[in-house]
Amino acid sequence: MISKKMQQEIAGSSAIRAMFLEGKEMAKRVGAENVYDFSLGNPMTPVPKEYNQAIIDAVQKESSLELHGYMDNAGYPETRQAVADNLNKRFGTRFEKKHIVMTVGAAGALNVVFKTILDPGDEVLALAPYFGEYRGYVANHQGILKEAEPDRSTFQPDFADLERKITEKTKAVIINNPVNPTGVIYSEETIKRLAALLEQKQKSYGHDIFMVSDEPYRELVYDGNKVPFLTKYYDNTFVTYSFSKSLSIPGERIGYIAVNPGMPGCDLACSGLSVANRMLGFVNAPSLMQKALISCMDCTTDVAYYDRNRKLIYETLTKLGFTCIKPQGAFYLFIKSPEEEEKKFVEKAKKHHILLVGGTSFSCPGYVRLAYCVSYEMIQRSLPAFEELAQEYGLV
Ligand SMILES: Cc1ncc(COP(=O)(O)O)c(C=O)c1O
Repeated sequence: MISKKMQQEIAGSSAIRAMFLEGKEMAKRVGAENVYDFSLGNPMTPVPKEYNQAIIDAVQKESSLELHGYMDNAGYPETRQAVADNLNKRFGTRFEKKHIVMTVGAAGALNVVFKTILDPGDEVLALAPYFGEYRGYVANHQGILKEAEPDRSTFQPDFADLERKITEKTKAVIINNPVNPTGVIYSEETIKRLAALLEQKQKSYGHDIFMVSDEPYRELVYDGNKVPFLTKYYDNTFVTYSFSKSLSIPGERIGYIAVNPGMPGCDLACSGLSVANRMLGFVNAPSLMQKALISCMDCTTDVAYYDRNRKLIYETLTKLGFTCIKPQGAFYLFIKSPEEEEKKFVEKAKKHHILLVGGTSFSCPGYVRLAYCVSYEMIQRSLPAFEELAQEYGLV
């Protein structure tokens, strides 16, 4: 028999699996074109041509043993240098290749960071609402995930609660910017305030408190908004990044960790990350993807595609009387449930063939997440269903 712990995990993840199966079953029943699946954060824009070409070039031009072989656990030096150069060019930072560790996506990066910094019982504070997978990533390394409440009028952190939740056991605060699931960007003012609070807490507790900046949506921003780059504000920062969303390659599993050169004990931290990459069984990030990235560091996705979707869905739903937080980045819309129990709202939406994820998965009950990384045509087709749903709640 498999472990009791894993049996619990399986039971806990059944909601998402059930939603997936339900969507498939619904498509069989009513036709795929009549199912409006807004449940998944799977990118929708095409992979940049340059990236596909770089993969072909790498296969054709590189020696196959070098291309497909083992390497330093931190990744190919030329890829790490390309990442460092790109960050320095964009953010005026001073990374060297030794500060960059290539990883198996952001998920791999976060696990590597937590393996490196956590002792059993250490606490990691997440700002609700947050990506639910953090729970597993922290628990994997015997950490304890704690949550700080948002200010629900802005979905920026509630600093009074945040301050209360930082304890002697806090080893890290994880920031996701722009935020999955709200699409909010934590402003420079928020980041400065958070950095000052963490500096003060580090002093009073006499130990490091790390900031872990999880940034898979960094390039997905609208209306000229800016996402602060956290190493500028706080020395003890790890940046975890993924190319999953910016290049539409989530299945390729490629990302990196950038360690702030100003971090006290920076060299030891970099060594720890490399060893953790090996010990966790990743060994190294996928080699072909690393090679292809070298010439594609400036490639980005078609942000205008998501922006068009954002405008259509946000404007329509607010006109219909739903209360939504206006997304500034990422590709999610966070909608207030018109009834207290969001589960009931999710069920009613399903009756109109609309699939949404309850806010409880993000530790924020009373809301639902809509992922608008779908085709524009699907959003258009779904609008009458949203109108019927609004009517059912007496919103219009
Ligand atoms: C906030 C956040 N962090 C991390 C990840 C994991 O990214 P990846 O699949 O690239 O590892 C995701 C994926 O959706 C995410 O939304």
